[in-house]
Amino acid sequence: MSKINILAIESSCDDTSAAIISDGQVLSNCVFSQKIHEKYGGVLPEAASRAHQTSILPIVQEALSVANMELQDLSAIAFTRGPGLLGSLHVGVSFAKGLALSLNLPMIAVHHIKAHVLAHFIEEPKPKFPFLCLTVSGGHTQIVLVKDYLDMEIIGSTIDDAAGEAFDKTAKLLGLPYPGGPLLDKLAQQGQAKYKFTEPQIANYDYSFSGLKTQFMRFLQQESATNPNFVQENMNDICASVQERIVSFLMRKLHKAAKDYKIREIAIAGGVSANSGLRKAIEEYGKRYHWKTYIPKFQYCTDNAAMIAMMAHFLYEKGEFVTQEVQPLARFD
Ligand code: KG4
Ligand code: ZN
Repeated sequence: MSKINILAIESSCDDTSAAIISDGQVLSNCVFSQKIHEKYGGVLPEAASRAHQTSILPIVQEALSVANMELQDLSAIAFTRGPGLLGSLHVGVSFAKGLALSLNLPMIAVHHIKAHVLAHFIEEPKPKFPFLCLTVSGGHTQIVLVKDYLDMEIIGSTIDDAAGEAFDKTAKLLGLPYPGGPLLDKLAQQGQAKYKFTEPQIANYDYSFSGLKTQFMRFLQQESATNPNFVQENMNDICASVQERIVSFLMRKLHKAAKDYKIREIAIAGGVSANSGLRKAIEEYGKRYHWKTYIPKFQYCTDNAAMIAMMAHFLYEKGEFVTQEVQPLARFD
């Protein structure tokens, strides 16, 4: 029997990515990370969609070539439908529609955040159901109860900012260039968490990060009033303290959920799962509470089409296809 080969396209934010999956095996995963946003200190939606337009064709060609495949070998075209920036999503969705129409292939629409969770099925070791996944990205912070590949229940989420946003906004307050999260992480590794911040009080498994951001801002204002060079002189320690507070908050709620649901299969996903403090914390909790922990490889933490391809593989098996009428969704519940 011939293999099921799916081309997947991801264009939800500022990374243009394409991947090929063949019978559930990822054969290629090519990513173009847009640099244009550095000079704006954040993602400029208009610039993002323009950059997707110029990079989408070369990225798709590269994904096919790395997988040693031709367009004629494909069985379906998958794409990120949302959530994300509408202009960015439109580029991927339109490209996928055009290609599917010209090749007469079925189309598969993928939910970006669920795909982050399914990144755990790209390679071994794979979590066993049911497992809990802390999904932390630039736009989302959720604790997800994963009952099956396509059966997920959000049991907790942020009521305001996402964890990635908290990292990025704090980095901006510290005068660090975009993208701030990874840089703050790098500096934190050379510092000591000697400044203490209070943890936000919020019920159940939910999160809130906007108060923390205000706390960091006030702290910096107060310290800088007495020493104008405070930030420059203590940058690494400030980063370590901020990171420690965000990570310990994330972990406390995850631990509560694991205890209440009596689940010891614990995963992290999304861009912030690349954070060294979070990766270390999850391993420490794992040892202490006898969790089996799952941390994705760096290339599957931040936005990538391999995870879109993985979810598309499961949707293909269920026969869940979409028509040419499909539209991208900036918000996708
Ligand atoms: O999942 P992702 O690539 O895109 C979204 O779907 O949002 O996540 C991007 C987020 C950004 O906020 C970025 O700063 C954050 O992940 N991030 C990090 C690290 N690497 C990426 N935050 C903290 N430490 C990192 N090492
Ligand atoms: Zn993402």
